[in-house]
Amino acid sequence: MASLTEQDERFNRERLIRGAFSPTAPISRRDLFAGRVSQLMALIDGADAPGQHLVLFGERGVGKTSLANIAVSMLGVEALSVRINCTTSDTFSDLWVRAFDEIQLTQMHLPTGFGSEPVSRPTSVLELIGGPEALSVDQVRAALFLLTRDQPVVVFFDEFDRLEDEHVHLNFADCIKTLSDQAVPATVVIVGVADDVNDLIDEHASVERALGQIPMPRMSDVELADLLARALASVDMTISDAASRRIVKVSQGLPHYTHLLGQEAALGAFRTDSSAVGVAAVDYAIERAIDRTQESIAALYYRATYSARENLYKQVLLACAMAQSDDRGFFSAASVRESLSLLLGRRMEIPSFAMHLNAFSTDRGPVLRKEGAQRKFRYRFVNPLLQPYVLLRGVRDGLIQSSMLGQ
Ligand SMILES: Nc1ncnc2c1ncn2[C@@H]1O[C@H](COP(=O)(O)OP(=O)(O)OP(=O)(O)O)[C@@H](O)[C@H]1O
Ligand SMILES: [Mg+2]
Repeated sequence: MASLTEQDERFNRERLIRGAFSPTAPISRRDLFAGRVSQLMALIDGADAPGQHLVLFGERGVGKTSLANIAVSMLGVEALSVRINCTTSDTFSDLWVRAFDEIQLTQMHLPTGFGSEPVSRPTSVLELIGGPEALSVDQVRAALFLLTRDQPVVVFFDEFDRLEDEHVHLNFADCIKTLSDQAVPATVVIVGVADDVNDLIDEHASVERALGQIPMPRMSDVELADLLARALASVDMTISDAASRRIVKVSQGLPHYTHLLGQEAALGAFRTDSSAVGVAAVDYAIERAIDRTQESIAALYYRATYSARENLYKQVLLACAMAQSDDRGFFSAASVRESLSLLLGRRMEIPSFAMHLNAFSTDRGPVLRKEGAQRKFRYRFVNPLLQPYVLLRGVRDGLIQSSMLGQ
């Protein structure tokens, strides 16, 4: 039996390995942040450009908040930079009151000189402008004007897509226009889930020139492999090329799954006394990851594929998850035909699964979103996080070999 100290050591080591991955929380540690170089540069450059404001948008779970966190800490060297989370009921005023509170908190913690103690600056900017009751666009401009006398300010409004207040978009557009016209050295960064900028801010056309767009695509295979290598290196572990490819392939550009599978695979390897993650550890991780996937995703899968009778729902959904898609995640029935034929080992034609695609886009979820005209329909997973889960289930249920995910 292992002695107590040996057990303690193993326990500590497991904790370290676990901590090298972050499957559920956004990243805020620079050393664990992978890739995204061009988006980070665009954010930093855009924040520096006078009169320029920014909008950062992409699918759910691609890493928007993590990028915003890293940008906040990088910008923090020369600007006062904060990130605010929007909630459904927030108004324009609520958001800015929170932003000013946060700025003040940040200011209180900024050291004023080498070796000196952090000091607080007691005067609240809201008191100076006569707030905080229902701030108008002009009061926000005035407050930012005061605040930016010492240093520039950058405010990220994350989860902007959640806002439901009917005036909030118009107010933000007016605010951005005013700040831009008057060259106030403050940058507003709007962050949220959207396919394009019009989905995120209705009044976008009126501020087009002042609003730089930063689309966040899914992470590339190279970025995800880098994520794995970095996390493992931080705990002195390595991964074989085949194991890395398998995890990257399942993740489909969504870093949540790379963290989840990487974490379980690393723990699996450690438990067999190895510091090198191989494909066997990945297969073990696939089993574990299914059990750790959010209940809501598992429920979507069940709803889409459940049937009392023998049918092809699981196979067709798996073929959708494996289908060749464009950079917005859309795929055609023709590409589902190819992956389904490969899965079943016999030629399948579209009419034999058109009913399934239709059900997935309507009463079975809907788990797919259908776009386009008759005969040219294109489909996409409504919740991108369902797609890798479908692959994991495909492996567990023996519909595909895990080796099909990457040799
Ligand atoms: N560049 C990155 N390097 C390493 N891990 C990342 C990176 N970006 C995101 N992640 C990880 O991916 C997961 C999702 O990231 P994040 O929460 O930032 O995405 P999001 O786009 O803000 O999601 P949502 O749309 O749900 O708000 C988290 O577990 C985070 O740790
Ligand atoms: Mg987020």
